[in-house]
Amino acid sequence: MFLNRRDFLKTLGGVALVALPPDPGSGHAGAAETSVRSDWCGGSEQSLPLFVPGERGFLGRLVLDDETLTLRAAPLEPADNAPAGLSQAYLASYRGREYVNPTLVLHPGQRVRVELVNGIGEATIVHWHGLTVDTRNDGAGAVLAAPGERYAYSFELRNRGALYWYHPHPHGLTAGQAYRGMFGLLEVADADEEKLRAALDLRPGKTEIPLVLQDRRTGRDYAAGDADRLHGFLGDSICVNGRACPYLDVSTRIYRFRLLNASNARTYRLGWRTAAGKAVPFTLIGNDGGLLPEPRICAEAFLASAERLDLLLDLTDLAVGDTLFLDTRAFDPMHMEMGGSSGGAIDHAAMGHAAAPPDSHAEHAAHGGAFPEGGARAILQMRVREKIASIASVPAKLSSLAPIDLARAIERPLRLGFAKGRWRINDRVFAMGETPIEVARNSVETWLIRNYFNSMPHAMHLHGFNFEVLERQTSPDPIAALKVDDRGRLATDLGRKDTVLVWPGESVKIALDFTCPFPGEQTYVFHCHNLEHEDAGMMLGVKLA
Ligand code: C2O
Ligand code: CU
Ligand code: CU
Repeated sequence: MFLNRRDFLKTLGGVALVALPPDPGSGHAGAAETSVRSDWCGGSEQSLPLFVPGERGFLGRLVLDDETLTLRAAPLEPADNAPAGLSQAYLASYRGREYVNPTLVLHPGQRVRVELVNGIGEATIVHWHGLTVDTRNDGAGAVLAAPGERYAYSFELRNRGALYWYHPHPHGLTAGQAYRGMFGLLEVADADEEKLRAALDLRPGKTEIPLVLQDRRTGRDYAAGDADRLHGFLGDSICVNGRACPYLDVSTRIYRFRLLNASNARTYRLGWRTAAGKAVPFTLIGNDGGLLPEPRICAEAFLASAERLDLLLDLTDLAVGDTLFLDTRAFDPMHMEMGGSSGGAIDHAAMGHAAAPPDSHAEHAAHGGAFPEGGARAILQMRVREKIASIASVPAKLSSLAPIDLARAIERPLRLGFAKGRWRINDRVFAMGETPIEVARNSVETWLIRNYFNSMPHAMHLHGFNFEVLERQTSPDPIAALKVDDRGRLATDLGRKDTVLVWPGESVKIALDFTCPFPGEQTYVFHCHNLEHEDAGMMLGVKLA
């Protein structure tokens, strides 16, 4: 099914001609290029430009002031100009502009007033992922807006600068609604953030670009079968800002990319390389909880559902005509769970979960369309179009964060496991109204999250509070290989987090400061952000009294 070079040119016409290196003698031609062509979207799809959000439209940046924003959850119409494949979204009209899944641009201390209008055929509610809000504003699912109903949010923004996001949270319906296209970004800018932008002359929409990753099943609505509920719903194509296989034209300077993994279940192992296959490192500057204290050079990073990465890519030494790829690299997805009620081990080959598939397209063809987790694929192409003089350098200090004081901390064990056909936390599944985790207000706790060896990776997330990753123990070898300190932490664990991936056999210790500014009893949830796992009950209520 691979196209040869001539068919490829025919298929893509003028687009392909400019995508080719101008000088075939420049070291990019030959075998290396052929292999790039064949894994670039399987050589079968046409490349479109990366969709870069502007000041309106899909993911458009909406600077929220004190006027209430009405977010209408609604089916998408062609006139909405949303990416093909999405069928529902959050529509908004604000200060004369129209938006689909607006990126809400916020600043610490402001009052956020949003009214959700439910225009879809089932109950929904919006959750502000990563924000410090009270139960009433958290939208965790205890209260829902029925079709035709409204729900009003009003809260003070208490978070530091970071990229947060919002998505539906009606228990049991979250995965389908998020998959169909209901998700948006929350960009909180604080003083550290503004300093960074000034130092590197970063301009949103030009040199600072969000990359929202979501894998999709082409041409099909959401419908999770048994295997999907067990492993999570995996797509056949990987979309970046709503398009598969996009390209971005760049110039020779530093770019900032802010990534959100909005996939229901897929984890990515992300890294850049040249067309000739040489790895290109990036500078990690932040994650879920905002800027790290200092930048870190990384060769690659895992990104699980709901996690964010904030990074800089330095293109100053490249030449016009050079091409880079952002890949998800091959990895062992470690789906080692016990199967179904029989307790027998799952046939991994049949599930398409062979370790590090050598040829993603053979896999692709063999397993009914879903691209296996851990498969290798290029997901974004970058083409250097312009040489400019650029002298900016990355600041040595990005932010300051005091470690959580553990002097009075109590430790809480949490075990992730599987029994009777369902993923569980401490052997329990979610029950509305129950709060098996009870925390004393203003206390400090450490949570030791242990994943069984016969399991799969789980992306664990807590509402209402961010946390510090203290330690990773007994990490599988490919994870341990990425550690940056003697506590087994990864570069992406530094700073503050709201979601952390726990691999099979691994224990991750996190510190939580439960200082709570809201009076009265508050409840939140702690859950796996693999949305199929969450919908099936891999979630526990948390009460703060
Ligand atoms: Cu992204 Cu319960 O959240
Ligand atoms: Cu959340
Ligand atoms: Cu899970």
